[in-house]
Amino acid sequence: MPNKVVIKDKIGSYKKNILISGDKSLSIRWVLFSSLANGVSTSKNLLMSEDVFAAVRAVKKLGIKVKLNNKFCKIYGKGIDGYNYKKNLIINAENSGTLGRLILGLLINTTHPIKIVGDKSLSKRDFKRVSDPLSKFGVRFKLKNKKNLPLTIYGSKYLKPINFYEKRGSAQCKSAVIFAGMRTEGLTLIKAKKSRNHTELMSKILKLPISIKKRKNYDEIKVKKVKKIPVLNYNIPSDISSSAFFIVLTALSDKSELIIKNVNINYSRIGVIKILKKMGVKITFKNQRIYKGEKIADLKIKSPKILKPINCPPNLNTSAIDEFLIIFLVAAKAKGVSLFKNLDELNQKESPRLRWGQQILKKIGIKTILSNGSIKIFGNPNIDLKKKIIIKNYLKDHRVFMTSVIAALSFGGTWHIHDKDSIKTSFPNFLKIIKKLKNND
Ligand code: S3P
Repeated sequence: MPNKVVIKDKIGSYKKNILISGDKSLSIRWVLFSSLANGVSTSKNLLMSEDVFAAVRAVKKLGIKVKLNNKFCKIYGKGIDGYNYKKNLIINAENSGTLGRLILGLLINTTHPIKIVGDKSLSKRDFKRVSDPLSKFGVRFKLKNKKNLPLTIYGSKYLKPINFYEKRGSAQCKSAVIFAGMRTEGLTLIKAKKSRNHTELMSKILKLPISIKKRKNYDEIKVKKVKKIPVLNYNIPSDISSSAFFIVLTALSDKSELIIKNVNINYSRIGVIKILKKMGVKITFKNQRIYKGEKIADLKIKSPKILKPINCPPNLNTSAIDEFLIIFLVAAKAKGVSLFKNLDELNQKESPRLRWGQQILKKIGIKTILSNGSIKIFGNPNIDLKKKIIIKNYLKDHRVFMTSVIAALSFGGTWHIHDKDSIKTSFPNFLKIIKKLKNND
C-alpha cells in the first residue's frame, strides 16, 4: 500500500455531526499522572495514537503495568516513588515533544542514568529549553550538540527547589518544571507566560500541593513536594487541535454545516476559534459544561459567505500555536491581505511550520512574504486549481499532511500527498472522518 493519498475532487456541501478522538495533551498527561498514582486509574476516550502509545511504553519501561484496549485504558500506579529505575534504560519518545520534555521532570530522581531518544523530527528539536531549568534542581544532562536528543539524564537524591521564569509560553517547559517541583522538597516558584494549563488543572483535581495565581500576562505557580497522588479516572474530551482541520474544511466549503461533539474548549486552547471568528467563520459553542476543571462544548460551524483577512493579534499565538498551518489556508481564501507576527516558535515544531505554511500556499498560487517570524498572506477568494501538486515532508509532520488534505479538498487540482502514516501520531481517524463527510448519505 502506498504511503500517500491522491485527491482529485473538491468536497461537496455537507451537513454532518462528527466525533473527534481524545485530546493529545490531556491523554499524555493522564498517562504520566496515573503512572504515579496510588492504585488503578481508568480513562475512556484516550487518544489511540502513536504519541500516546509512546507514553504508555515509557511508563511500562519504568515498571508500571498498563492495560490498553479500544474502550478503556487502565494504569496500575505504584505511588509517587513507584518507578523502577533499572540500569541502561532507554525511553523512546518517538515524535512526541510533549512526552520527551514532560517526562524529564518526573525522572529527576532516577538512580541510574536514563537515555531519551526520539525519531528524526524530535531529534532536531530543542531540549535545552527543558534541560536548562531542570539542571538547576541539581540533575545533570548530556545532550547531543548540547541541545538535542539523544540525551541522558543523571538524576540526583539531593534536589533543591528553583525559581523559573518561563518566557516562551511553552506548556511543555512549564509542565516539566512543575513535575520536577513535585519531586523536590521545598517550594518551587514558576512565573510562566500564559500557555495551555492542563497540567495545573489535573494537579488541582488531584488536590496536589500546587497553587496558581493568575496575573494579567503570566501565571505564578507554586509547587511543593507531592507525597501521594490519588487515582485519576478520566473521560477524555475531544481535541480542538484535531477539530480545527474540520472547522477549517467547513469554513472553506460551500453551504456546509458541521457539529463536533464534546470538544475541549479550555481558554488556553481556543486561539483558533477566536482567530477564525474574526475572519468571519460562524462558530458557536453549544451545551457548554465543565468536566474536571476543563471547559467542554459541542461546536457548531457554518460555512461563511465571505472570509475576511486578519491582522492577527500576537497575544493569540500561544493558544493557537498548533493551528497556524490550517489557519493560513483560511487567510489564503480571504478577501485581502492577512498578517501573522511573532511566529518564530512555529519553526520549532515537528517541522519548520512557518516555512511549510509558505510552501503550501505557494503551491496553491498564493503570494506570501516571510520575514522575521512574520508571514503576510495575499488572499484570493477565487482559488480554483487545475494543476498537479505534490507534497512530501521529509520530517513527516502530521499537521503538514492534514493541512494539505484540507487544501486539496477545498481548492481543487490533483494532489499527491505523501507520508499518510504521519496521522498515526496524533489523529489516526482523520481520513475516515473525511470519508464520512464525502459520503453524503
Ligand atoms: C503541548 C504544548 C505545545 C504544543 C504541543 C503540545 C503540550 O508545545 O505545541 O503540541 O501538550 O504541552 P510548546 O510547549 O513547545 O509550545
